[in-house]
Amino acid sequence: MNKPTDLARIPVDHDDIDTNVSSNEHFSTVLEARLSRRSLLRGGAATAASALLGAIGLSGCGGSDNDIVTAPTPPTGSTPPPQTEKLLGFGAVSKSLADTVVVPAGYTASVLYALGDPLTANTAAYKNDGSDADFENRAGDHHDGMEFFPLSGTGTASTSVNDRGLLAMNHEATTDEKLSSFFVHANGGTMTLPRPAAEVDKEMALHGLSVVEVRQSGGKWAYQKDSSFNRRVHQQTDVEISGPVRGNALVVTKYSTNGTRIRGTLNNCGTGKTPWNTYLSGEENWSGYFTRSATDDTARGDKSVASLNRYGRSQGAASRHGWETGGSDDKYQRWDISRKGASLDGSDDYRNEMNGMGYIVEMDAYDKTKSIKKRTALGRFAHESAVFGKPVVGQPLAVYMGDDSRNEYIFKFVSNAVWAVADATPLDRIATGDKYLDSGKLYVAKFSADGSGQWIELSIGNPAIASYAGYKFADQADVLVNARLAGDAVGATKMDRPEWCSVHPGTGEIYFTLTNNSNRRVEPSGSSQAAPDAANPRVYTDMKGSTAQQGNPNGHIIRVKEGSAGSTATGFTWDVYLFGAESGAPAGTVNLSGLTADQDFSSPDGLAFSASTGICWIQTDDGAYTDVTNCMMLAGVPGRVGDGKKLTLNYPRANGSTLSVDTYVGLNATQDTLKRFLVGPVGSEITGIAETPDGKALFVNIQHPGENTASANIADPAKYTSQWPANAGYGAGKRPRSATIVITKNDGGRIGT
Ligand code: FEO
Ligand code: CA
Ligand code: CA
Repeated sequence: MNKPTDLARIPVDHDDIDTNVSSNEHFSTVLEARLSRRSLLRGGAATAASALLGAIGLSGCGGSDNDIVTAPTPPTGSTPPPQTEKLLGFGAVSKSLADTVVVPAGYTASVLYALGDPLTANTAAYKNDGSDADFENRAGDHHDGMEFFPLSGTGTASTSVNDRGLLAMNHEATTDEKLSSFFVHANGGTMTLPRPAAEVDKEMALHGLSVVEVRQSGGKWAYQKDSSFNRRVHQQTDVEISGPVRGNALVVTKYSTNGTRIRGTLNNCGTGKTPWNTYLSGEENWSGYFTRSATDDTARGDKSVASLNRYGRSQGAASRHGWETGGSDDKYQRWDISRKGASLDGSDDYRNEMNGMGYIVEMDAYDKTKSIKKRTALGRFAHESAVFGKPVVGQPLAVYMGDDSRNEYIFKFVSNAVWAVADATPLDRIATGDKYLDSGKLYVAKFSADGSGQWIELSIGNPAIASYAGYKFADQADVLVNARLAGDAVGATKMDRPEWCSVHPGTGEIYFTLTNNSNRRVEPSGSSQAAPDAANPRVYTDMKGSTAQQGNPNGHIIRVKEGSAGSTATGFTWDVYLFGAESGAPAGTVNLSGLTADQDFSSPDGLAFSASTGICWIQTDDGAYTDVTNCMMLAGVPGRVGDGKKLTLNYPRANGSTLSVDTYVGLNATQDTLKRFLVGPVGSEITGIAETPDGKALFVNIQHPGENTASANIADPAKYTSQWPANAGYGAGKRPRSATIVITKNDGGRIGT
């Protein structure tokens, strides 16, 4: 979520957080290091022809170097695309403030699965008036990241079926004002403490994951209310702690005195899909759900205080929903992480409960009997997506990840196990996850001003970590639980809020959205602000009405090309694929990618390449440009790292000197390489992207429409800022609902052509 700041309601932005007070070096201080960019970034310019070649268009990005660029391989059983198909052949969608989903002419968007929809045959229809209960058997709230798992006719796992599958998705949060998740309670809910147990129970059930079967028949998609595959994971679901942190003293709680289990997965945002066909979910802003007493620092009296502060829970912090006030039952008390018990190890209270949140979680969407596992080897932070580099037989797997808070880091996990092709279709998918995701190395990214970068291993054996003054790491599990502190210790680059990442199926380059950063400043004041650097080079002011938005309000998308060692490379090159901007913004300082009115966007968040077409889908979660347009989705056909140019941005300082920041920007967008495809309803974020293997059905999530509705208006639908999807003919009531839509092309073609 990324909420506006100048509307009548001034909400807390639970996503827009910074807790990085490290003094990591910024590249503005090392501008003297000017290696030749040309020696690092080879590759010719992509041409407009790249947009004309269908899936093969990826080969249009080929440069003059020796890198091999191949078209993505269509999944087995899918129809090969026609060679003449034109990517981005649709007419661009205009910016829109309408309370509807807008898609190009020739496309249809249909609502498929919304908040509250029943997931069993015996669950009552959703009344959508705040009286509904039993959310353990209904769709959760705030649909977010999502993956499609094809199902065969006999109900087994597939990678090729196009008309039947499971959608696994994240239910990140609920639409709240003050404490309450107000659209799901009849009167808007209780806005003061203590919260009634019934309200808390409902809200805990709304958060988590769902699996829902969907089928297409006669060109129409529907979700299957009575499918035996349907599943909800919520805050009472037992989940295993797996990998190096399993059994560690840092995760001992009253619930799991041996540190192996926890209830639930929380604030799930981005996703990923493993090469063995399981679902990965990133736990993002979990820390806000916990409270600590005002005297807890003294009660603890140990290094856990430094960890808690770094992860956003200083003593006295209030929880987002006051769940800990629901009653004396353990399921409420766990949200108060104050040290209360007399034990030395935390086995008699929940002082360590928060150390069980903040991971990449793996679920087998096809098999409810298999444990859900927190893959702790991938580190603990505000996770978004987790995306694999292209697997190479005999080589370790690489997983790329971002930490979404202001001035946080980008990470890579490299498995110890090397890829065996038989593991693409294993009998036991979660056991395969154990093999690849429970042991390996975690790296953090450092971007240099010369266009190169380093992956720095976060190892207890690294002297910078072992001797770090800010925190005394006990062992490798401690490094993983406190990956942010380990990143501080090795001088990782503070980024403009890393959101999703995805791997270009042709070039293998990794794209990361950096959604925005209101704390970039030419002359930082205080530890929460950071100066511009090569990888996060913009600082400017954008006006939204009379509000001056500062820093990098519109965000950018950075991309990384691994060194010759591939997944195990410790060096890379990078450039900025696109800078978000308003089309009318100054071309030399803000609109650096030359965006036109058909392409301009702000705050990129969701990002995923289509395995079918190779299109780069870019979704926004914006608060900066929402005076002009609702959030959107764009289709891009990118080139490659190094296809653009070096830029130098000069910032005047108060003392009359100039701060010069070198950066590298990819080719300017053209009408053939970037086009707006969708605009969502009022107040919504566009997030989550999944497709059928043939690329002919695209699933997209519309999160929190109407979120700026004041809770005082709960009884008057006319005052809701959105009535979507009811106004699209879906379901009862007029309260807005997060929902999954499915987009098809009226001529039956692939989406984005
Ligand atoms: Fe839930 Fe970082 O977006
Ligand atoms: Ca503006
Ligand atoms: Ca997001």
